[in-house]
Amino acid sequence: MKKSLSFDDVLLIPKYSDIKSRTEVNTANNLGKIRLTLPIISSPMDTVTENKMAETMSDAGGLGIVHRYNTLDEQADLLSAVNGRKAAAIGMTGDYLERARFLYNTSGVDVLCVDVAHGHHIMMEHCLKTLKDEFGDEVHIMAGNVATLEGFDALASWGADSIRVGIGGGSICSTRLVAGHGVPTLQSILDCAQTLHEDVKIIADGGIKTSGDIVKAYAAGADFVMVGSLLAGTSETPGEVFRNANGKRYKVYRGMASEAAQNAWRGKSSAPEGISTTIPYKGQTFPVLADLHGGIRSGFSYSGARSFTEFYDKSELIQQTNAGQSESFTHILKGNK
Ligand code: XMP
Repeated sequence: MKKSLSFDDVLLIPKYSDIKSRTEVNTANNLGKIRLTLPIISSPMDTVTENKMAETMSDAGGLGIVHRYNTLDEQADLLSAVNGRKAAAIGMTGDYLERARFLYNTSGVDVLCVDVAHGHHIMMEHCLKTLKDEFGDEVHIMAGNVATLEGFDALASWGADSIRVGIGGGSICSTRLVAGHGVPTLQSILDCAQTLHEDVKIIADGGIKTSGDIVKAYAAGADFVMVGSLLAGTSETPGEVFRNANGKRYKVYRGMASEAAQNAWRGKSSAPEGISTTIPYKGQTFPVLADLHGGIRSGFSYSGARSFTEFYDKSELIQQTNAGQSESFTHILKGNK
């Protein structure tokens, strides 16, 4: 049986560095024609990305994908309110083509993200070929999610320009519990990085908890990371801030296949594969992104790398034992409990 590694199973070996300041590190990467100086993309979820988050991500040098759990008019309005870069999710059945055309014609869209749980699917082939016929190179087509190299190569050959890699690893996912399927996200990235489709970008998606995980994802071969929980609870996410009995502030974060989300977007729920939860209010998104960016720069500098090209060349992952994991987590308080 194949062994499969997760973010916490690995570390990066520190390398000789001649970098004197983290400001020397340039983290820019290209998503097709779009250059992102912050290689982070916010998830197309209804508690993460609408116009405010998309705008903030764009201002910070990243990208936000406006979710698709709304009417065509609602999504087009949200997208119209975003200046600069515009990215929107669509499905692969139903009104997906009409939605894609409508968004393109009314708001303009730079990136369309075919957003489905199991992307290595016969309907994805038809969908991607149709979108490529319709938009050619005018619109960057992102698709997913996949967990395997076979899945990655299939979507790449069907026309995807970038592919979301990771199934069941998200903080709010229950796919692995409900359906027993999935691959630890880091392993999926390592596998998909073997692709010969070198122009197709790898977006690590699901289970990224820290800037350290982001750096590990890049080291495994990802070009970008997609994050939900790291941004959930900020003021730019959709949804109200509410207070609990102790006066502490919270926001809702939920999986798009959770019972609550399904009820909200299609009026009924079946076989939920996600959960809905509340998380402490985090304030504005910008400082959260600045911290993540600082962590990424620090990570590059520990590998002695000033750019993605150098980081891919120099970074070296190692597997750690359970004892290594305990040492890696902040552990001074462990004995005092
Ligand atoms: P994080 O760990 O960043 O994960 O919170 C966000 C990613 O989780 C995926 N997603 C889901 N996966 N059931 C799932 O199995 C769901 O209900 C669900 N909702 C979102 C998605 O890839 C997202 O980017």
